[in-house]
Amino acid sequence: MNQPVMEGLRLNVPAYVKHQRLIGWVAEVAALTQARDVYWCDGSQAEYDRLCTQLVNAGTFKKLNPAKRANSYLACSDPSDVARVEDRTYICSANKEDAGPTNNWMAPAEMRSLLQTGDKALFKGCMRGRTLYVVPFSMGPIGSPIAHIGVELSDSPYVAVNMRTMTRMGRAVLDVLGSDGTFVPCVHTVAAPLEAGQADVKWPCNQTKYIVHFPETREIWSYGSGYGGNALLGKKCFALRIASTMGRDQGWLAEHMLILGVTSPEGKKYHFAAAFPSACGKTNFSMLIPPAAFDGWKVTTIGDDIAWIKPAADGRLYAINPEAGYFGVAPGTNTLTNFNCMASLNQDVIFTNVALTDDGDVWWEGMTDTAPAHLIDWQGKDWTPAIAKETGAKAAHPNARFTVSAVNNPALDAEWDNPAGVPIDAFIFGGRRSTTVPLVTEARDWIEGVYMAATMGSETTAAAAGQQGVVRRDPFAMLPFMGYNMSDYFQHWLDMGAKLAAGGAALPKIYCVNWFRKGADGKFVWPGYGENMRVLKWMLDRVEGTGVGEEHAFGVTPRYQDINWNGLDFTQEQFNITTHIDKAAWGVEMKLHEELFQQLAHHLPAELPATKLKIEARLAAE
Ligand code: GTP
Ligand code: SPV
Ligand code: MN
Repeated sequence: MNQPVMEGLRLNVPAYVKHQRLIGWVAEVAALTQARDVYWCDGSQAEYDRLCTQLVNAGTFKKLNPAKRANSYLACSDPSDVARVEDRTYICSANKEDAGPTNNWMAPAEMRSLLQTGDKALFKGCMRGRTLYVVPFSMGPIGSPIAHIGVELSDSPYVAVNMRTMTRMGRAVLDVLGSDGTFVPCVHTVAAPLEAGQADVKWPCNQTKYIVHFPETREIWSYGSGYGGNALLGKKCFALRIASTMGRDQGWLAEHMLILGVTSPEGKKYHFAAAFPSACGKTNFSMLIPPAAFDGWKVTTIGDDIAWIKPAADGRLYAINPEAGYFGVAPGTNTLTNFNCMASLNQDVIFTNVALTDDGDVWWEGMTDTAPAHLIDWQGKDWTPAIAKETGAKAAHPNARFTVSAVNNPALDAEWDNPAGVPIDAFIFGGRRSTTVPLVTEARDWIEGVYMAATMGSETTAAAAGQQGVVRRDPFAMLPFMGYNMSDYFQHWLDMGAKLAAGGAALPKIYCVNWFRKGADGKFVWPGYGENMRVLKWMLDRVEGTGVGEEHAFGVTPRYQDINWNGLDFTQEQFNITTHIDKAAWGVEMKLHEELFQQLAHHLPAELPATKLKIEARLAAE
């Protein structure tokens, strides 16, 4: 009964699938894309292993040496398909104002014509010769009241196996969905149809790319890329862009934030949620190992990239990690700076765009001080330190990544999977700034904190295609991930604060950090990584009401003597470089805030320009 046959195509619907609307939609997309056949993922280990073997046979995966990296694979992408494509990302809300000035927008009807209905619609026939994988997934613990379900239809088996690690994926999700549950429909194609007899390539993709969101109907359509956030649609597309609009409508927050727990030697536990832009340190901060001097202190990971945050009956904000795995940056990761991360990469990992060693292991820049004498680089070419010196060739792409399950992380928090989430004591916002922004600043109140987050700037990184190292405003580290008008989002944060305050609960404190200030020698002054515990401890003392700091134009910053320096040789002079407020630089910075506010003038909450005036007055008086 459940097997409609369409022009030779069997939908292969398993008997356990009871959801007629889902089946109908799969049939529609299969017909539109002319997929060769349909495969419903059950999420089992056997299926994962089978698909990985298939990817090995297709040349997409290389199986790594099991003695070095058990059950792990390396995929190398097409050199043109290595990062998120922000200029190809669209928010197709009915009204342009709802997408706001920071998003690309196209009218929904126009986009639908381009993708689905027009004579030359891009999705027509885009899966010819390929299998359509039905990937049901839950963002958040399966069946939890805060979780939301999505179904991704993709012609990429690479996506199917990565989604199994990154989300709760498979049959159990369809069981929860039942016969008429709601799900976010996500369609993904690499857009490389195969004609009869045509051989496949290792990494099919298309020069033309569209990453499209319809916020009103909560749909995602992704065309032409097989990489990361462009293709694993549960992550940025759903859990941030679509979920941010759900949060706006339903009174919660979807944020580009890690979530960590800190436990004191006495056993008191705190939770922080921290937003840093892409490739600015979330994964590292979430797995931090405190320095030896912080004996008895422990940091545990709830999430490393995305937080869904909701007010609970006790008036506090609770956060869950909607993901089940990490899609983390490989370059720069090593046992000294992130032991927990390296330990989680020993087995069951999919590496993408790192280098291959001669003994079947992986390597990337920054993994070891001395590079191996010979490697195959991420583009399949011979690589030696001498070649690198001569040509500057990188062994691993700067946005090379690993996909690994959260349960591999030795620092995983016991509550990471708790459907109720963890109560948030403080929010941290941090950019990558070689100048101007101090190591840490506490906002004096919620509004000042929202101002700090809204005006945050950061240097662009390899996580997105385009120029790198350019300072841009990245409000709340959400610039590439906002599903609606940025100013309405600022208002949503202000409203959330007002609502919590009205309920009588203490609001989480808000901090701004910068691990990336550089000295005259061009090197980072702050040692970072585990040493960030010293800053975290200061924030924690402030939460407790015992920490001391000095007030300045835009908040409160610790003095040298307010930080615990046990076991670290960091002089007052070095500290001054990381915290110094350069008036001239801040003059320029305030002009950039002004430019941002002009860009975001439509619906910009009055509190923000008012806060700016106060800061400017204080700066002038200092
Ligand atoms: P996305 O996955 O893109 O969202 O990145 P992320 O925010 O999780 O960044 P991640 O922790 O992967 O770090 C990105 C890069 O910054 C890596 O090369 C790290 O080694 C480096 N990094 C992280 N934390 C620090 C730090 O405290 N100091 C310095 N100097 N570098 C850091
Ligand atoms: C980011 O760019 O913030 C990432 C990687 O976490 S991706 O999944 O590609 O968005
Ligand atoms: Mn990220």
